[in-house]
Amino acid sequence: MRKKIAAGNWKMNLDLTQAQTLVSELVQMLEDEYNGSAEVVLAPSYPFLYPIHHLIKSYSRFYLASQNMYQKESGAYTGECSPMMLKSAGVTHCIIGHSERRQYFGENHEQLLAKVSLCIKSGIIPIYCVGETLSERESERTFEVISDQLVHSVFPIEGEDFSKIILAYEPVWAIGTGKTASPAQAQAVHAYIRQLIRTKYGEEIAENTSILYGGSVNAANAADLFSQPDIDGGLVGGASLKSREFTEIVKALP
Ligand code: 13P
Repeated sequence: MRKKIAAGNWKMNLDLTQAQTLVSELVQMLEDEYNGSAEVVLAPSYPFLYPIHHLIKSYSRFYLASQNMYQKESGAYTGECSPMMLKSAGVTHCIIGHSERRQYFGENHEQLLAKVSLCIKSGIIPIYCVGETLSERESERTFEVISDQLVHSVFPIEGEDFSKIILAYEPVWAIGTGKTASPAQAQAVHAYIRQLIRTKYGEEIAENTSILYGGSVNAANAADLFSQPDIDGGLVGGASLKSREFTEIVKALP
């Protein structure tokens, strides 16, 4: 059975005190109010990973993600972080291929494949993001773009390793814009992604892969999105910075 997951990508927000307060509130609210099975993954910036690991480590539903990593094991790469370093600080998951990293930092298919591969080798679960821009959607290239992003950066990975990956569909035009994809629009792309996985890896792996939706998810729209058959949770940006809002999003998962 595939997992239900609510992941909060904090991006480059909060200071340490704000981050710790947010996590303490979130842990308390979910302990008090949520009995479901969803995993909660928090993705703070690098400096906050270790302190937040300490706040969540005794709660089995919580996991820690980095927002990035470098595709080398160690060496003279000033300013970068290897997956081994992250793992030793309590990181269990890593967001890879977010559209902001593709757009602002020029991350390409080849680099992303190297990141996903090393991530898996290091025992960290990749949360690999795909998504089309507005102009790609308007020119009816959505499926082609998504397929390319999968074919080049994750489908070279063999089945046993692929089954460790979480995918996230994040239409670029819905990120931080308040314009969510409709449940039907999101479901159509999620079903397409699952079909590509089925064709490449077979029914069992396709059925067991969690595919999250991201792009202006909030407490008001989460339940409708998460009720779609191929949407297994959310990758949440802005709304994950507010404890009450993010708690309600988690509670929208069974
Ligand atoms: P928003 O929820 O702020 O639109 O961001 C989505 C996102 O990019 C999560 O990775």
